Amino acid sequence: MAKTKILLGICGSISAYKAPLIVREFVKLGYEVRCIMTESAKQFVSPVVLSNLSHFDTIIDMFDPRFHDDGSWHIHLAHWADCMVIAPCSATTISKLSIGSSDNALLLVALSLQKDTPLIVAPAMDSDMWEHPATKRNIETIKKDGAIVLPPESGELASGLVGVGRLPEPNTIASFVHSHLQNLPSTTIPSAIEVEYEPVFVNTVASAVEKDQWQASLELELLKQTTNSVTASAQDLSTEVILITAGPTQEPIDDVRYITNHSSGKMGYALADVARNFGAKVVLISGPVTIPPPDGVEVHHVTTSKEMYETVQKYSNEYTIGIMAAAVSDFTPANPIQGKIKKEHSTTTTTIELTKTTDILQTLGHSKKPHQFLVGFALESEELRLNATKKLSSKRADIIVGNYANKPNSGFNGDNNTLSVFYSNGVIEDLEPMSKQECAIELFKRIALYKTYLKSTIV
Ligand code: CTP
Repeated sequence: MAKTKILLGICGSISAYKAPLIVREFVKLGYEVRCIMTESAKQFVSPVVLSNLSHFDTIIDMFDPRFHDDGSWHIHLAHWADCMVIAPCSATTISKLSIGSSDNALLLVALSLQKDTPLIVAPAMDSDMWEHPATKRNIETIKKDGAIVLPPESGELASGLVGVGRLPEPNTIASFVHSHLQNLPSTTIPSAIEVEYEPVFVNTVASAVEKDQWQASLELELLKQTTNSVTASAQDLSTEVILITAGPTQEPIDDVRYITNHSSGKMGYALADVARNFGAKVVLISGPVTIPPPDGVEVHHVTTSKEMYETVQKYSNEYTIGIMAAAVSDFTPANPIQGKIKKEHSTTTTTIELTKTTDILQTLGHSKKPHQFLVGFALESEELRLNATKKLSSKRADIIVGNYANKPNSGFNGDNNTLSVFYSNGVIEDLEPMSKQECAIELFKRIALYKTYLKSTIV
């Protein structure tokens, strides 16, 4: 094995009783393990047991003369480790990690880890503590700093309550760390996860919608392992031909009136701009909007959904990533009138017969070739998860980007958006509100990552 040395940190949590079993799992897999625990962890698990199983003295006190050979023991230990795992990780330690505190031996070593040494954190606590905004905030911070968070499971908790917060079982933790360290494909993750894992398409809406949140988060972590640098791969799109639709369409009722919607085209244009910055060849097919197109992009201006469909079709073989961000009208007047409809020809009401337009995304999805990757949008006023997941399978997209039409910082006209990313393997990721430009960058990171991941699952 390329990487063989694991530093296991243990915090004060009732679930620390699982720590000796985690050590045993690592040893069984062939790892050398050293344990380091907080003072309060001693209340829940004996350091003697950990020392016996790991064959190294367990470190608790940062001034313990046994480890104090030249005063820099924490640096030596941090450099020795191929990986540090903190399991269980308490809310206190998460908060201290988030501010870079080093007021005990465990934190001191965590802060001394080399840039490329992964820190894997397995939190365990009661649900209310896990869901507290402060803990959520601290988790986000340590993730941003590079920590990999193995999310807690749902189940019975020490308090007698049932909820999220349980430390995953020792073999789950060990297998997760093993897969990560040895760069194994996700198929080698433990059987409990394999059973649930659907690497290709989610077959039923129910299976995707009801997917356990923990499972989904874990899959997302696994996704992140499939590429070494998400940002690096997103920033090099020079081999991609990216086809983007944007803006509304206008469907003529007569020569002066039409059916349209409030789409501004801002999201699609931001995507085109970012894709161009990342080196891609970009073809932007845009409905009527008032914003200028980005430079360095091939732009086709269209008006109706039929024109948009026909223009997209011209690139249907050429594109490698298709992003259908346009708000295409679902219906068009069946018999547009030449000239102007005069009101004296009607009584108090009139009827316009509408026919369905061609679903451009669905057409591309159903003729998609193995090297092509397809992204659609779902703008919803309710039940975003259910509707976006339905669109994922009916349109055979690889990703559906969901947003709400009727919430602040979301939808058509503003400069900001709040996106949820629905992956074809059932993972759902909710992003924070951000500018449409930032949304585009975040989306391309995920597109690059998931494209790589899907490629790796094709045997
Ligand atoms: N879309 C498309 N062609 C259409 C209609 C929609 O390419 N004729 C694409 C959109 O660009 C978007 C996705 O399909 O990527 C979903 O569009 P949306 O309007 O949210 O959903 P619809 O499929 O139109 O269904 P509904 O309006 O009933 O929600």
